[in-house]
Amino acid sequence: FSRRALLGGAGAGLAVGAIGGAVGGRAAASPGPAAAPGTGAAAVPFHGPRQAGIVEPAQARVHLAAFDLAPAAGREQLRTLLRIWSATAARLTRGEPADGHENQIALDAGPCSLTVTFGFGATLFDKAGLADRRPEALAPLPAFPGDALDPARGDGDLWLQIGADDALVAFHALRVLQRQAAGLAVPRWQMAGFGRTPGATARPTTGRNLMGQVDGTNNPKPDDPDFAAKVFATGPAWLAGGSYAVVRRIRMLLDDWENQPTDRQERVIGRRKSDGAPLSGGPGAGETTPVDLAATGPDGTLAIAPDAHVRVAAPASNGGAAMLRRGFSYQDGLLADGSPDAGLLFVAFQADPARGFVPVQRRLARGDGLSRFLRHEASGLYAVPPGAPEGGYVGQQLLE
Ligand code: HEM
Repeated sequence: FSRRALLGGAGAGLAVGAIGGAVGGRAAASPGPAAAPGTGAAAVPFHGPRQAGIVEPAQARVHLAAFDLAPAAGREQLRTLLRIWSATAARLTRGEPADGHENQIALDAGPCSLTVTFGFGATLFDKAGLADRRPEALAPLPAFPGDALDPARGDGDLWLQIGADDALVAFHALRVLQRQAAGLAVPRWQMAGFGRTPGATARPTTGRNLMGQVDGTNNPKPDDPDFAAKVFATGPAWLAGGSYAVVRRIRMLLDDWENQPTDRQERVIGRRKSDGAPLSGGPGAGETTPVDLAATGPDGTLAIAPDAHVRVAAPASNGGAAMLRRGFSYQDGLLADGSPDAGLLFVAFQADPARGFVPVQRRLARGDGLSRFLRHEASGLYAVPPGAPEGGYVGQQLLE
């Protein structure tokens, strides 16, 4: 599904490149910069029944950031912060300046499909005097075999996912939102990630991760009849229409991985590297050919190995558990031993982590051929409230 199609909103079907400043059906009333048509002018509305940054394709750049409420802050300060942050995110996603006090990092760029998505960690609720409204599904994730988690880079009261197709636009939004939090919330951790830049390929297939695999093929699709049931929460009332985000920083042991021959790498996943076609597929198979977990090869063994990632992770192996994966790659230089500090900022949205990430990761951590090449280094779970209407703010249903 393309960002352009989503921008069409309620069937408007506008081509971004053709509408210049009037993106997504908006009048070009903003004093914003003269954005280049296409990537620069593309805008994703902030307001709506769902928060932006869930169903839209992952942008070229992301900042994930967590904050804790300031020591003396409570419910009132939380409300103030969410009001300010929502108003700012709405302005920035339209390509307008935030509040006139900002540095000029994004001055001459358009919105570049900026989205800002807000989530609430389990620890927020006690501090804001809302313990009785904390959803049961927000209980801490269980420990999984092989976890090597750094608590300083996980969890947090508030979570932000800031995505944009331009690095300066994304960083600008991060700086503005962080400055506006002063006195109300303190930064806890931040991570920067990236994906493919729009226009980088003439074949806009599903993106690749740093292991070189086409990644995201078998995600639930927005037009699947059960998409909403898999991705969006139905309760408690304040969260209805929202979601749960699981965030994991997963380092890839790239030196080990790249030492494997391609056919071995393909067996680890169960798909071809060149085009993502399932190994069960036969000669004409392509990326979208359905996976056949029962198929056998000429020697009678399973075409998709018993420990192949797509078999172990598949809903069929996990009682139907499903999630919408929307991850980004990261690279932060080298570790002390010279190996790359690089991997996947795994972000998955689901209606309920107990019917999404938890059962799947339980199986992956024990029996997945891919796990040998991975280290889970940080983890967070956040309730992602529904979107805010014009004039409202994210989290309003919880706080008023
Ligand atoms: C599928 C890579 C971690 C859940 C895939 C595919 C690739 C991949 C290449 C096949 C294409 C696709 O359908 O997207 C990776 C890498 C990971 C990772 C490189 C870590 C760095 C995880 C984790 C989970 C997960 C932590 C959840 C706990 C899934 C699911 C599928 C999938 C549900 C679809 C299976 C199907 O129904 O065919 N992954 N994955 N993955 N992965 Fe992962």
